[in-house]
Amino acid sequence: MKKLIYLFLFLLIDMSYIHASDYQAQSTDVIDWRKSGTPAEQLEALVNITPGTHHWMPEIAYRYQSLYWSVQQNKWDFAKYQTKSMEKMIKRVGNARAKRAKSASVFQRNVFKGLYASIESRDKKSFDTAFSRTTRECMACHVKEGFSYIIIPSVPPKPNNIVLGYPE
Ligand code: HEC
Repeated sequence: MKKLIYLFLFLLIDMSYIHASDYQAQSTDVIDWRKSGTPAEQLEALVNITPGTHHWMPEIAYRYQSLYWSVQQNKWDFAKYQTKSMEKMIKRVGNARAKRAKSASVFQRNVFKGLYASIESRDKKSFDTAFSRTTRECMACHVKEGFSYIIIPSVPPKPNNIVLGYPE
């Protein structure tokens, strides 16, 4: 019985060793485009992994939600910061996906001036107007681009950032 246990332990250790060494050997044979690709191959690979709309949208939604709750908590500087980040992301969408560029610039034109002005004047009423406009413009683009089922709430759920905590 003792012998059997030893044999079992030996096999276990040996197997993990083999697996570890297999992994090493396997990874040394791999051709890595970042190191040995031609500039054209590297460029193609980079274009393929450029994040597109699908990648930036959850980030935009996160800014949208944070923006709303910043203003509810009178954190106006943080609200401005979130607005700026949202603007950057929308520009990035237009840049990364040429087919969305037109819609992205319509959004930019219709949304940011009002948001910045209301934040600058720290006026909640005009912020509400600018934020409703933002919600409508998010939806307008989703409808135009064929994603009408991605519905943006006019009051986004709970604060989503540790800077904001929970409402008192
Ligand atoms: C330029 C047009 C455009 C604008 C403006 C836009 N969206 Fe989107 N959004 C899209 C498209 C297109 C998709 C689907 C992307 C895909 O799957 O390729 C999407 C997807 C999403 C998703 C789903 C992401 C996921 O994968 O879970 C959310 C959430 C979202 N948008 C939020 C917003 C919010 C919030 C705004 C406004 C602040 C907004 N979007 C403005 C075009 C837009």
